[in-house]
Amino acid sequence: METLFLRHVAFGLVIWTTMLLSPSTCSKPCSFPAIFNFGDSNSDTGGLSAAFGQAPYPNGETFFGTPSGRYSDGRLIIDFIAESLRLPHLSAFLDSVGSNFSHGANFATAGSTIRPPNMTIQYGPSPISLDVQYVEFSNFHTRSQIYRKKGELYEKLLPRVEYFSRALYTFDIGQNDLTAGYKLNMTIEQIKAYVPDVLGQFSNVIKDIYNEGGRTFWIHNTGPVGCYPYILDRFFVNPAQYNKYGCASPFNDVAQFFNQRLKEAVVQLEQDLPMAAFTYVDIYSLKYTLITQAKKYGFEKPLVACCGRGGKYNYNLHEKCGAKKTINGKEVVIANSCKDPMTRINWDGTHFTEAANKWIFQQILNGSFSDPPNPLEMACQRRKTKK
Ligand SMILES: *[C@@H]1O[C@H](CO)[C@@H](O)[C@H](O)[C@H]1NC(C)=O
Ligand SMILES: *[C@@H]1O[C@H](CO)[C@@H](O)[C@H](O)[C@H]1NC(C)=O
Ligand SMILES: *[C@@H]1O[C@H](CO)[C@@H](O)[C@H](O)[C@H]1NC(C)=O
Ligand SMILES: *[C@@H]1O[C@H](CO)[C@@H](O)[C@H](O)[C@H]1NC(C)=O
Repeated sequence: METLFLRHVAFGLVIWTTMLLSPSTCSKPCSFPAIFNFGDSNSDTGGLSAAFGQAPYPNGETFFGTPSGRYSDGRLIIDFIAESLRLPHLSAFLDSVGSNFSHGANFATAGSTIRPPNMTIQYGPSPISLDVQYVEFSNFHTRSQIYRKKGELYEKLLPRVEYFSRALYTFDIGQNDLTAGYKLNMTIEQIKAYVPDVLGQFSNVIKDIYNEGGRTFWIHNTGPVGCYPYILDRFFVNPAQYNKYGCASPFNDVAQFFNQRLKEAVVQLEQDLPMAAFTYVDIYSLKYTLITQAKKYGFEKPLVACCGRGGKYNYNLHEKCGAKKTINGKEVVIANSCKDPMTRINWDGTHFTEAANKWIFQQILNGSFSDPPNPLEMACQRRKTKK
């Protein structure tokens, strides 16, 4: 009797430990019914285009055949995330034409910062900073439910009320908070000094969404901008500060400093919000690996924009991808796409090609670049605390 009981206990312990060690083999996938995304151009699927003018051709040429509100030749990481969860591509909240929000909405706009900018779009980032994106979300949450009750068509265009707690909430924002400092000629030390304020505002928005029922948060860290043409071309770098790959180290150091603090902020949120699950995704390492080992992964010219006009990096601030000029009374595109975007990493000096986005997505899918290392479809699971 006693041994049998002990055996049961031992057996139970084995099951319990197995569950702790391999959540993916013991638990069901989360089956997210919706995605709500917040961010900047890394995940904008039409927000900035709706409010400030369409992204020009050749954006979209590879996949959509038309710009589609994205700054890329094709799909973004958020598009691949949606596809893999068998959800439609996200409509931009700001796009009032043809949008369908039945499985989520995208609040990201190109140029967005976490902190509210004090400048207009002509001189600085998008005015639709993360706090504004949250207000849009909150309005959407309330008003979508008022309209769903009105019936047929609204029911086919707006999410069910329970989707808000079951949804995947995704974030890719912060890059423009750092570059805003560079544009103001701040020193590296000055920029690092404001990072805690930026992240404090980030955490506040996560808490606001949690208070509205959000439970699963998927957070991308920021990329190695010191390897991007728009930084390399525009800001002076002491020649001694380029690394062996041609990236400008000081800008990457700031990104890594931001990411370290972001990771700490996520750990703190995990403690503060007992019913939420967080996944911190190391996009920096993936983008850096792809750029510095481009050949190995089938890519070339990692520091040169595919679509642009002239210079060492095929990037010109005043004649960006899709720029037009009137020549002999005819409007022609003077900043064109490269021959084969499928072999290139950088699209327009700032953003990634569809091929690069797809490669990055394939690496993040199984959780090997995430903390905790949950696959995407398991992101609703809270980190198992070690005993
Ligand atoms: C915006 O804020 C920055 C940083 O605080 C400051 O240096 C700059 O002068 C401000 N610009 C305007 C237009 O208020
Ligand atoms: C919106 O998208 C969903 C999912 O793709 C679809 O079932 C629904 O019919 C669409 N609504 C309309 C009005 O087309
Ligand atoms: C930053 O420095 C550059 C070069 O000295 C100057 O042209 C520019 O006006 C400065 N920008 C700001 C916002 O102070
Ligand atoms: C995760 O996926 C990548 C890309 O398919 C693969 O190279 C890697 O080995 C996978 N890692 C694990 C732990 O399965």
